Amino acid sequence: MMDALGAVASLVKPAAMQVLLAYERLESGVAYNPVSEEAARDPYAVYRRIRDRDPVHRMRLVDAWVLARYEDADAMLRDHARFSNEDRRFHDTGLTTLLDIDPPDHTRLRSLVSRAFTPRSVRNWHGRVQVIADRLLDAAADQDRFDLIAALGYPLPVTVIAEMLGVPAEDMDRFEGWSNDIALIVEPILSPAQVEGVRRATEELFAYFETIVEARRREPRDDIVSALLAAEEEGDTLSRVELLSTMLLILVAGNETTRNLIGNGMLALLRHSDQLQRLRDEPGLLEPAVDELLRYDSPVQLDGRVLREDLEMGGKRLRAGEKVIALLGAANRDPAAFQHPDALDIGRKEKSHLSFGRGIHYCLGASLAVLEARIAFQGLLDRFASIRLAAEPRYRDGIVLRGVENLWIEVEPRVRPA
Ligand code: HEM
Repeated sequence: MMDALGAVASLVKPAAMQVLLAYERLESGVAYNPVSEEAARDPYAVYRRIRDRDPVHRMRLVDAWVLARYEDADAMLRDHARFSNEDRRFHDTGLTTLLDIDPPDHTRLRSLVSRAFTPRSVRNWHGRVQVIADRLLDAAADQDRFDLIAALGYPLPVTVIAEMLGVPAEDMDRFEGWSNDIALIVEPILSPAQVEGVRRATEELFAYFETIVEARRREPRDDIVSALLAAEEEGDTLSRVELLSTMLLILVAGNETTRNLIGNGMLALLRHSDQLQRLRDEPGLLEPAVDELLRYDSPVQLDGRVLREDLEMGGKRLRAGEKVIALLGAANRDPAAFQHPDALDIGRKEKSHLSFGRGIHYCLGASLAVLEARIAFQGLLDRFASIRLAAEPRYRDGIVLRGVENLWIEVEPRVRPA
């Protein structure tokens, strides 16, 4: 688990941190401290302040610009020529994936990987996701109180991805450990021990994946690895490291994010019981509801780039080589883009949230994640006549990935006809 505060403390002494924040406030009228208690409790209040007072804001703690307006975040994500994904990481963990490269390499690799994520292949997954979700929910359904993260939020995405990658069920626990360790790579604030943890987990996972690749080379199956190997045989170039990094990215990118969508989404519905009831009354709203839950409490809060050339934004001069972070969570609550942005409205017409990014790096697994969330929420509503929050959940530490540690709920089963 990420301890962002601990990581800051090991990098920046508390006194130095206070000086940086004071300087930032003096400079712009507002300071952004993503590891403050307030930011953990309600990042949206912090974002609002930045958006209102200094929307293109220099954050001193990690020395990067942060963009809090929808318009600027959207422009950054679309402009891959000036806002690069290369060298955007705050730490060198030795790992390069689709998310760390620009065209033309990105174009070539993405077109190969996209073959495994066509709308048709995701539709083919529908039945399998339903079976896995049903099995998990049935196992939980005889209890009147359970942790939704442990019962569904964690195992659903990890099982789906493990099956896609052809990982045997008995390796699932190791798989989860690696995924959690490597997911930290997205965080701007890490301690040296955490950076080392990413490196170690990457090495172990690569060694593990090598055995799967070898097995699929000998005997192809209906899984992503076989699809990628087939693409290679058709003459496309996919180096060994690219193949392993892509498998790793699929594991890491789709795991905690989807868990957070299920957890944050259900939590938002439980806190807005009128919207939960509305979803029961109007099942047709499931589709916009998932979009709205993604907007309302985005599983990925920040997305970073590096500037390739000097430019002006919001009256500020940004220079080539500087890091820029789009606050997706802030953009999704920008009143210039969404009416009553702090209200949860599952029938909302505006769907253009930035939670899956935008432009050439737009999330490859978006339709899979949405499919899993729809099946998860529908399964809960079908099984239980009432669902209530049983305990106040705690959000995990971490600045980029936002999600609850656990989500204890109290449920009453539907009375089934005899
Ligand atoms: C609710 C769940 C998810 C969220 C919120 C999410 C979010 C994102 C975001 C914001 C990006 C863009 C990052 C950038 O612009 O730098 C991204 C990219 C990506 N996502 Fe997801 N993701 C989710 C689920 C998944 C799943 C289930 C998979 C695969 C199984 C996946 C695979 C990927 C891949 C491969 C990329 C890189 C695309 C590229 O660089 O061209 N994601 N995701």
